This record gives sequence, structure tokens and C-alpha cells, in this order.
Amino acid sequence: MTKKTTQFRNLLAATNVEYLVEAHNALSARIVEESGHAGIWASGLTLSATMGVRDNNEVSWTQVLEVLEFMSDATDIPVMLDGDTGYGNFNNVRRLIKKLEQRKIAAVCLEDKLFPKTNSFIDGGRQALADIDEFAGKIKAAKDTQEDDDFSVVARTEAFIVGWGLDEALKRAEAYHAAGADAVLVHSKKTTAEEIIAFVGRWDRRCPIVVVPTTYYSTPTEVFEEAGVSLVIWANHLLRSSIASMQRTARQLQEQRTALSVEDHLATVPEIFRLQGADELKEAEKRYLPEIHNGHRAVVLAASRGDALGRLTQDKPKSMIPIQGEPLLATLVRYHHEAGIQNVYVVVGYKPEAVTVTGIKKIYNPDYADTKELYSLYQARHVLNGPAVVSFGDVIFKRYILLNLLSETGDIVIVADGEMSRHRRSDSYRDLLHCTKARSNAYLDEPVYLERIDPYLDRQEAHGEWIGLMRLSANGAVAVCDALEALQLRDDFAELRMKDLFDHLLRDRHRIRVVYVRGHWLDVDDLEVLTDAVEF
Ligand code: SPV
Ligand code: MG
Repeated sequence: MTKKTTQFRNLLAATNVEYLVEAHNALSARIVEESGHAGIWASGLTLSATMGVRDNNEVSWTQVLEVLEFMSDATDIPVMLDGDTGYGNFNNVRRLIKKLEQRKIAAVCLEDKLFPKTNSFIDGGRQALADIDEFAGKIKAAKDTQEDDDFSVVARTEAFIVGWGLDEALKRAEAYHAAGADAVLVHSKKTTAEEIIAFVGRWDRRCPIVVVPTTYYSTPTEVFEEAGVSLVIWANHLLRSSIASMQRTARQLQEQRTALSVEDHLATVPEIFRLQGADELKEAEKRYLPEIHNGHRAVVLAASRGDALGRLTQDKPKSMIPIQGEPLLATLVRYHHEAGIQNVYVVVGYKPEAVTVTGIKKIYNPDYADTKELYSLYQARHVLNGPAVVSFGDVIFKRYILLNLLSETGDIVIVADGEMSRHRRSDSYRDLLHCTKARSNAYLDEPVYLERIDPYLDRQEAHGEWIGLMRLSANGAVAVCDALEALQLRDDFAELRMKDLFDHLLRDRHRIRVVYVRGHWLDVDDLEVLTDAVEF
């Protein structure tokens, strides 16, 4: 991208008329840029007005700098500061230039009035001008201070404003040009451009001329073009349009006591977000944030009764059995919330009214008695439209396992116990895994992937047991949904388990990453294990 100072220089050098449009903060600066204009006028009048004070140097120069910094950061086109009189003498100007360059401001305009200045349209005839030599010294000091050769210093003469006439205006312009000014701004408060045109005619293109047709706005652009004006500044038009609009809206809201009739005339709230660059932050979050927190949803499969638990599940599903005083499901949901996952969906089936855990959304599987896990997951497929954590409702694990899983990379990541839990009854169903590698003690190990999942794997082949917890990226969730759609066409879909999902994904050449843990989890599947769980 061309440097802002160079862009501004090119505007001054252009043979056609170029325009700057006023802005008074970062938002209006961005609006100027988006409208296609080539540069921004950081107006002293409008900047002070937005702060609720007068254009009389009531805003300090460092306060001006703070606003300028936001304007400059928000845009890629050049900003010229209306630097008033330079906020002091030549020495203050030197410091100003240094600070402007640090903030990538492309140019400054200094005017030959006295500090504290007054706006040109207020009592112009009663204002005094600076001594020519003193002001020329400021211009020279500015030019001597700048480090970037392309930084521009525009000298503004107010000779017409105070009524001192064309010769005085020319004399001053000549002196400022000789002191090094890159352009001359000649200001007029007349309603026609006659003073300006007379000046430009006599000036004869000795350096670029800048004009501010606030009062003589009806002058056709060709007039400026033919006269040889380089830059036209629309010096206050955005503030004035926003004032008119804000007054109308405030009045209507006051009169009507409803936003109904104003709403359709307003920028939308998403438009504010767009102007703030909210999309860029979303993109950056994808790059820099670990994929945790609120982006994830959780699906907990808790539809089944747990027949093996007998009387314990007479009036509630097994996920509601209290372990250390808290239902299993409540612990699981709490862990998710503590990990920043607020949206926890629980697929319920058996005695759904007994699932009284707060902070969950229930999804009902009416066929819970005759179906297995995949059927339940299929009921929750609409939740899988972004990153998600899927788990069984009857698994209890230490909280760190979930937190670590959330910071792992990979589209489909499952947690496996690489120690083959000693607590399990040998005859119960187990999701045994054969992987690219067994668990090792190496702290930083290369990623491990699933090769096979099979309850009948023999001990030599089994590297671990899936603990019933998996994390999906947005892409992983798409893959799982596709697989679910394919599998639900099968006649035996009601009988299918998660194992069948993984088989399908592997066949479709999806990689399933395996993260090993060593114990620290339990499957509350039968009474024997429940005894362990109580002590867990
Ligand atoms: C400004 O915009 O602050 C200017 C132009 O200096 S004028 O208000 O016409 O003086
Ligand atoms: Mg001004």
C-alpha cells in the first residue's frame, strides 16, 4: 500500500481537482474512506463540536492527537489535520509535527491567525493575523522537523477572512511558499468564489492551491478545475448531516414514545458492527484462540434407563444417579459450563421429567427403549452445526480431561484411556481401539489416530478404550452429520452404536484423532462400577 504521505502528495500533484471530506472521529473517517474519497480533513471545527466545545482551541492539542490516532488507525487514506495556528509558536509546531508523523498523519494545515484562534465564520472582520515572518518561521520549522520527505505542510492564509484583500493574501502566500509550504490554502467566507478565483489567477500555479467552499458551495466544479485549484475540502458536511439526522431521531422518539417510525431510517446495529470491523475479529479468533469457550456446544446422550442398575433407576435415568451428592449429569453439565460451554443439549428418553439439572436444553428421544446411541445423536443433529463436544451421560471423568480436549487440534478428536481401565467388568460392552500408536510417556508426542474400533479386539491389539467423550470442529461436525444421514438409511439404524459412526467415518477417510488419558474416568454401567464411582 502506498504510504499515506505519498498518497497525499499525489493528490496535491494531480492535474484534476481532488477532494477531502471532513471527519471528526474514527467512525466518520471510515465512512469517508468507504465512500471512495481519497483523503480526510480532520476539521478543527467539527472535532471540537463533537466534544461539545467551541472552535477556539478549547480542546487541547494532545486531545486532538488522541482522536487523530483513532482516525488514522481506522483508515488507509491520508488524513490532513486542521492544525489551527499550530497550538503555540514555532517550537510547539515542531513537537506537533513529530507527534503527527508518529501517528501516520499525512499532512497538516497551519493558519496565520493568533492563538487561541476563532473560527473563520465568527467575527472574521475583528480577527487579527499573525506577523508574516513569525508565521513563515512556523512553516519553516515544520518543514525542517518532518522526517518523512512526503509529509505535507499546507499554509493557510486568512487574509480574505479578516478583509485585508487580494494583495495581502498574495504577499502572505508568497512568503509561506518561500518558507517551504507544499501548498497554500486560501480561505474565503463569501457566497461566491470571486476572491478565490482572483487569487488563483494571480498565483499562477506557483504551488498547489487548496480551497474550502463552505459558503461558496454553489460554484461549479469546472470553475475550480479551470482556475487551477488542486484540492477542494468539504470541511464540515458529515457532522452537519449527522446533526440533522440525530435531531430528527431524538425529536421523533420524544414525541412518539416508540421507535416504530424511526427504525426504518436508521443504520442497523449489524451495520455498526461492520463499521467496527467485527468480522475481522471473528476471523482472527479462528486463527489465534484455542477452539474453546462459547463457540462449542455440547451434546450429552442420556436417554437410556440403565437397566442393569435395577432399583436405582426405577424413577430416574442412570445419568441422574447421585455421585458424591450430585447427579452425574449435573457434574457433567457443570464441567461444561466451567469450560465456557454454555449451550448444553441433553438427549433424554427414560423419565425425562426426572432430569432436573438446570442450564440444559432437552432433546427428546421417544424411542429410547428400543434404540441405541446413534439414534439419540441423530435426534440432536441440528445442534451439530458448529464445533461441539459429544459425550455419554453416564460417564464420569475428571474435569481436566474436558479442558485438555478443548485445546486439542483436529476435526474429530476422541479421548481414550490408554491404560485399559482396571475397573471394568470384562463382559460389558467396551469401545476398544486400535490406533497408529500406543500411549507413551513422552510429554510432547506426535498425534495418534484411530485405525479400528472393535469390542472384540484382543488385549495385544487394543491400545485403549474410548471413554465416551469426543470433540468436533465445525468441519468435524459436518462430517458426523453426513455420516448420520447416511447411516439412518440403514434398516438396523436403531441398533447402531457410536462404534458404527466411527467405522463409517474411517471408511470415508476421515481422520479421527485419539488423545490418551490414564484412568480418571468411569462408565457408570453397573452396580459394581457404581461402587467405584462413589469413591471416585
Ligand atoms: C475547519 O473545518 O475547522 C476549518 C474550516 O478550519 S472553517 O471552519 O471554514 O474555518
Ligand atoms: Mg478549523
